[in-house]
Order: sequence, then structure tokens, then C-alpha cells
Amino acid sequence: MSTLPPVSPAPLERKKITTLAFRQKKARGEKIAVLTAYDYPSALTLDRAGMDCILVGDSLGMVVLGYENTLPVTMDEMIHHCRAVARGAKSALLIGDMPFLSYQVSVEEAVRNAGRFLQQGGMDAVKLEGGRERLDVVRAIVGAGIPVMGHLGLTPQSVHQLGGFRPQGRTAASAKRLLEDALLLEQAGCFSIVLESVPARLAELVSRRLSIPTIGIGAGAGCDGQVLVFHDLLGLFDRFTPKFVKQYAHLNAAMRSAFDEYIADVRAGRFPAGEHTVEMAEEEWEEFVKLDKPKSVKRKV
Ligand code: KIV
Repeated sequence: MSTLPPVSPAPLERKKITTLAFRQKKARGEKIAVLTAYDYPSALTLDRAGMDCILVGDSLGMVVLGYENTLPVTMDEMIHHCRAVARGAKSALLIGDMPFLSYQVSVEEAVRNAGRFLQQGGMDAVKLEGGRERLDVVRAIVGAGIPVMGHLGLTPQSVHQLGGFRPQGRTAASAKRLLEDALLLEQAGCFSIVLESVPARLAELVSRRLSIPTIGIGAGAGCDGQVLVFHDLLGLFDRFTPKFVKQYAHLNAAMRSAFDEYIADVRAGRFPAGEHTVEMAEEEWEEFVKLDKPKSVKRKV
């Protein structure tokens, strides 16, 4: 029988991490650890591990729902997964990712959709992609009392405009634009900004220029925190693995060997064994056998 490794015990109750704590961590030079999650058991484990922040990313479209990219993800799908995460994580800061077309059509719609993440999804904040073209939306959502995390660099919802999932800010002009966008988002009220797939030295400079924390993914060690996609970190998603991912486990291989073993056990009759089986007391069984005896049928003469 396979044995499971021991799991470290749950730490004592943690204080709720807030957007204010994010800023304080930056001021103290403490790095911020963020991971995505999309369901209850994962959120529970991340929270117990002491993760600072859980992002319910629209990456769920690719790693959980099997879409080609993040564009088909809907508000209802996001809310469904946010609710599950919120039931599992009580201390980490919870951020819901606004899906494609939930904030681009009008400012009013954007505020209403952002509100759903807090009201129905149990999130503490929202994230949205884009720079100068999103300032009105950011101001309006922040104005409604909803904290906003920005997202610059490789913004997957613009995959077709960017010509693929490719690094951004690698020319002097695009680096300058990215820095300007980051400063504009900070002025508009964002409490933090994700920098995805941008040169490390640019991300470091942006992080120094901002007073709000930057959270990097493929943006080097100079950011104020790091984020990875849950399935990438655990080696659960093997369709492709970006260069910037560090796999801390190889769960796809572990899952595959567990499934192979289970199938073989069932086919060979090794599972279930005695210890996996429910039994009943002998006298109850004997009584049952008596009850089950066919009654003799009296024939009419
Ligand atoms: O959707 C997502 O998971 C994200 C992170 C990769 C930052 O946006």
C-alpha cells in the first residue's frame, strides 16, 4: 500500500492579510508570496501554509477548464471558483481576476462586475489587465471601495494583439511605456501591480519607482513579491511550461502512477482489501440469512 508523506500541522490562526499589509510589507522590504488557486481544498492548504495572497486567476480557463487561452472565461465561471476558494482560505488576501470583456465595455459594467467579486465571490480585491487605457475603470472601481491590482507586461487577454504569449518591454520605447503605465496605475489608485514576463532589470526599476508593491511572474527577483500558477508550481499542467516556472513537485507523474496502480489493483481484485471493507456482526448476518430463507408456500388442495 502506498504511504502518504506527513503534512505539516496547520499553524495557529493567522491575522487576515489586507491590502494595507501589502504596502507595509513593501515598506519593510518583506517579499510577498502569491499563488493562484481555483478550488476549496487547494485554498485551504495554501492558507494553512501561510500564503500571503491567493489569486483566483482567469488562468483557470487554461489549467482547469481546458480552454486554449483565457478569453472564453466568463464572470459566472470566475464567481463559481472564487466562492470555493473563499470557503477554504480565511487569512490570505483574496483577489479575483476580472475576465475578458467584464471591464472593457463600459465603466458602469466594470464597477458592477468588480462588485460581484466581493459581494458574491467572497473576494477582497480584483485584478484587471492594462495600463493607460484602463485608468477610468480603475478610478471608478477604486471609487466604489473595491481594491484593484493592475497587470502589465504580458497581458494574456490581449494575446491576439500581442501576437502570442511573448515577453514585453524589451525595447527602450516599450520599457518607457510600461514604466509610465505603472506610475499611472499607481496614481489611479491600484494597491499593487502584477508584472508579467518583462525584463528583470526593468521590473526592478519599476518596483523601485513605485510605492505600491509589484508582484512578478517571469519578471525577475527585483519585484516586491512573486506569483505563480498553482498547476505550474506543482507540475500538474503539462501542455506547456513557461521558462519562468519553477516546478516544486511533479504531481502529474505522481497522479499518473497512482491511477495506474489503482486500475491494476481493481482489475486484479487486490482492491478493496479487508481494511477498506465494511462488515456486520455475525449474529446480525445469521438473523438476516434466516429472514432471507424462502417461506414454504402452502398449496390449496
Ligand atoms: O490568471 C492568472 O493566473 C494571472 C497570473 C498569472 C498573474 O493573471
